[in-house]
Amino acid sequence: MHRRLNRILVTGGCGFIASNFILSLLERRSDLLIVNLDKLTYAGNRMNLQELEQKQDRKQNTGYRFIQGDIIDQILVEQLLAEHRIQAVLNFAAESHVDRSIHDSAPFIATNIQGTHTLLEAARKAGIELFLQVSTDEVYGTLGPEGLFTEETPLAPNSPYSASKASADLLVRAYHETYGMPTVITRCSNNYGPFQFPEKLIPLMITLAWEDKPLPVYGDGANVRDWIHVLDHCRGVELAMDQGRPGAIYNFGGDAERTTLQVVTAILDLLGKPHSLIRHVQDRPGHDRRYAMDFSLAARELKFAPTRSFEKGLLETIQWYEHNREWLRRVEDGSYREFMNTWYGGRQ
Ligand code: NAD
Ligand code: TYD
Repeated sequence: MHRRLNRILVTGGCGFIASNFILSLLERRSDLLIVNLDKLTYAGNRMNLQELEQKQDRKQNTGYRFIQGDIIDQILVEQLLAEHRIQAVLNFAAESHVDRSIHDSAPFIATNIQGTHTLLEAARKAGIELFLQVSTDEVYGTLGPEGLFTEETPLAPNSPYSASKASADLLVRAYHETYGMPTVITRCSNNYGPFQFPEKLIPLMITLAWEDKPLPVYGDGANVRDWIHVLDHCRGVELAMDQGRPGAIYNFGGDAERTTLQVVTAILDLLGKPHSLIRHVQDRPGHDRRYAMDFSLAARELKFAPTRSFEKGLLETIQWYEHNREWLRRVEDGSYREFMNTWYGGRQ
């Protein structure tokens, strides 16, 4: 199967992964219209896509439109699908941080579940050609020391974040089974790379280490994540958009299992900082021990393969943050500092 979709609604396009997705796609495909619907929460930054907006200011054709709005807004979503004759919805929009979901789960239920439902309903009424749901390995829960998550692993989410993502996946599945909607679900492991909000492990540790501040490692630091460069994830989503089987679920992983301590010491070594900056703090409640992905289905059906080694990708990511300190200064607004003080203040 090969689809040629030209008119796409991307939700959450000002966030980490979708801004990389939009930039990488529009760099290569001049036949596309991408409408980006984003609420601009604390995690959404319009400046991630400023190169596209600057081109528009110079009256150059970019194939890009930005709409500020909420995916829960049914009238707005229906209007956008009709007005732009949208063929595919790619739902990246989400509340995405596990720690915030522990602190206050309400926005996760609203955006991740209700928002996905609104998009599905609007897509059903519009007779959309593809609904692609960007999901996560966290819906599978946790692994022991052995084994990998496959697409058949039962869903067993442990945090409010992962429970909200699993709920959305089930709604997407139901719309395929009940209404025959052409859906694809992609489930990816932990991403890192440019534009990641500095509440997530890698950019948080980079920015703290620069200032010689303590690096908070939850519990014993032996929790394992399978790290993937964001552009490898974006390539996977593009392949799933072009070739994914209707009703299919595809796992994507980076083939790079690392413990938190391995990641943090690698960052300290690359920055030339002492390991004594590491502080073991109170563990995250419900902390999943290990994630690791079997992505052989995506490899077989989509020819997906991660291309960047973790060590090279990490070095490039550190360099990106070093060259983009102004970006960091602008995203670290009051609400970010407030959350970080409340969360870490109680955990030292
Ligand atoms: P992010 O938090 O960086 O960005 C989320 C974006 O969604 C922001 O631009 C935000 O403004 C927007 N948004 C939030 N609520 C919205 C709403 N109600 N309406 C419209 N826009 C809204 O997230 P991310 O890390 O880029 O993750 C993107 C997607 O990928 C999410 O669905 C996430 O679950 C999934 N995912 C993330 C990872 C990861 O490691 N970051 C791994 C696997 C899957
Ligand atoms: P995170 O980036 O929040 O992603 P996720 O929880 O979705 O996997 O965290 C990655 C790992 O790093 C996870 O095992 C929790 C751990 N971690 C810390 O030890 N300290 C921190 O300050 C953060 C943010 C995460």
